[in-house]
Amino acid sequence: MRVIIHGTGTMSGLLKKAVESTEDFTVTGFADELTSETGDVIISFSHFSRIPALLSFAKEKKIPLLVATTGYSPDDLERMKKAGEEIPLLLASNVSLGINVLVKVIKAITPILYDTFDIEIVEKHHNKKLDAPSGTAKTLAEAAASVIPHGAAQVYGRSGNKKREKYEIGVSALRGGTIAGEHAVFYCGDDEIIEIKHTAMSKNIFVRGALAAARILVQKEPGFYTMEEILS
Ligand SMILES: NC(=O)c1ccc[n+]([C@@H]2O[C@H](COP(=O)([O-])OP(=O)(O)OC[C@H]3O[C@@H](n4cnc5c(N)ncnc54)[C@H](OP(=O)(O)O)[C@@H]3O)[C@@H](O)[C@H]2O)c1
Repeated sequence: MRVIIHGTGTMSGLLKKAVESTEDFTVTGFADELTSETGDVIISFSHFSRIPALLSFAKEKKIPLLVATTGYSPDDLERMKKAGEEIPLLLASNVSLGINVLVKVIKAITPILYDTFDIEIVEKHHNKKLDAPSGTAKTLAEAAASVIPHGAAQVYGRSGNKKREKYEIGVSALRGGTIAGEHAVFYCGDDEIIEIKHTAMSKNIFVRGALAAARILVQKEPGFYTMEEILS
């Protein structure tokens, strides 16, 4: 499979190296701005400001697109959903298998706990990460809110003099060193806490996840897909 890599940073470099060491994938593009590249799939680990141009390119060339880039705006999200009418588009804030299993766990246990336990999410990343909270933390908060019948407000970066509201989901971010990524979901009840944590030991989990997801995406009809749909 011919892979066009959108982005030239750390993740894109690791992806390029991994693709070059496999027999069934080849790299046919490696850039932050795609112009005349050809391939079977585009994998984007770039900067959110580059998403509109990326969508125009993918739609014009009719190439399936995996957007792993985070930090995009609500307008970009709408653009991506619209692009799904023309090409298979997978938007994944986290392509690792472990985090996507964590999403399933959250959806299974939150309906049992939300009424009596407070839900808080803490994420940790390296000091070069631009966006906070991480796209993954938002995905985890949305997963919990999606199975609470009346929904739940998400509160980012708690500060000030105000008690938490019942049902709200707090999301806090820590940045430092070379942490590849850590996400912990806390269910805090009276005298008991359940903590479910995923730790990325290296960025290679994202490379493996992106290539596995790309294999499935290229077989799909045009549509806007999530990792949950791709894995099932
Ligand atoms: N979905 C997932 O599972 C997953 C996993 C890991 C990372 N990510 C996301 O993937 C993206 C890239 O991560 P990374 O670790 O590879 O980051 P990185 O090493 O900082 O690379 C960022 C890329 O964006 C470009 N860029 C940076 N600032 C820019 C700006 N102001 N305007 C335009 N382009 C800019 C960089 O090009 P220059 O070097 O030329 O500036 C580079 O190609 C991030 O959004 C990150 O959150 C997603």
